[in-house]
Amino acid sequence: MTSGLEFRVTPATPVPAAERAKLIENPGFGKLFTDHMVTIEWSEGKGWHNAEVRARAPFSLDPAAAVLHYAQEIFEGMKAYRGRGGEVTMFRPEENARRFNESADRMAMPRIPEALFVEAVEKLVAADRDWIPDGEGSLYLRPFMFADEVFLGVKPAAHYIFCVIASPVGPYFKGGGKPVTIWVSDNFTRAAPGGTGAAKCGGNYAGSLVAQAEATRQGCDQVVFLDAAERRWVEELGGMNVFFVMDDGSIITPPLGTILPGITRASLIELARGDGLKVEEKPYSFDEWKADAESGRLREVFACGTAAVVAGIGTVRYRGGEFTIGDGTTTGPVTQKLREALVGIQRGESNDERGWIH
Ligand code: COI
Repeated sequence: MTSGLEFRVTPATPVPAAERAKLIENPGFGKLFTDHMVTIEWSEGKGWHNAEVRARAPFSLDPAAAVLHYAQEIFEGMKAYRGRGGEVTMFRPEENARRFNESADRMAMPRIPEALFVEAVEKLVAADRDWIPDGEGSLYLRPFMFADEVFLGVKPAAHYIFCVIASPVGPYFKGGGKPVTIWVSDNFTRAAPGGTGAAKCGGNYAGSLVAQAEATRQGCDQVVFLDAAERRWVEELGGMNVFFVMDDGSIITPPLGTILPGITRASLIELARGDGLKVEEKPYSFDEWKADAESGRLREVFACGTAAVVAGIGTVRYRGGEFTIGDGTTTGPVTQKLREALVGIQRGESNDERGWIH
């Protein structure tokens, strides 16, 4: 399905093939970018217009552009994969489009037609498909929108830019598949009821950075936030959702509300339930987490997200102590099975019975 909006295409001078092949051999995460970007403008009265595929280049922004002052910015994270047969696929891009619009509603920004969002991403993937790494890597896609109206009054802006850029990536965590270490933040929270926690807006991530920096100082890979009201319930990590696997095979994950409604989260819930596992979306406290890890009732914990995929959590550190999940070094069988099921579908290696592949 196309959006009906005409895209002007101005091909970039590509990075030479041999250089590109070398660059994508070991891309890391989010440091390397492709040749093109897509931009579309929105203005009051005119709606979406001026759709372009063009060379990736800096924006020229007025110092009074609204985003620089009031942070009207939202984004998505998604990936394109190259299958063994060379086919290029994306995973549930319509879900990203839907969530993008929910974020837009929360941040008083214009909605983008879902077909236009998906078409913009497809156009970039088509232009830069040679940048998709083979094997374990993928092309991380970052659609985002920001307010560039030149105005200092506090109100929803009247002009926005929607953009998609792409970055060849390897694993998000440096340890590859090894279980990660998590720091429990007791002094910072991420989102309050009625706040912006469920929106994928830059501000949520800005607010998490000081807590993430403390996690790094404490020797941890990621921070986990507790709820803002009681400082008791586990919410989510700096950029990932979290799941707990119990000794009877049942799974608990925090309920939606103040957390990001992860597409990986929703997909894993569906896969686990399809496998006959009981998955409960219910509050789980840090005290329960600690007690269940110590008693052995809690068998596995994992983080998930587009960037992180599914990553086992081995050690949990908090002010005054730490505990491990199992021996702290092994990725558990449920985590491993869910990861393989998800990645198999994403990479076109397993049967896509739910029609998730695009
Ligand atoms: C993603 O998983 O796509 C995110 O946006 C999270 C961020 C940690 C990269």
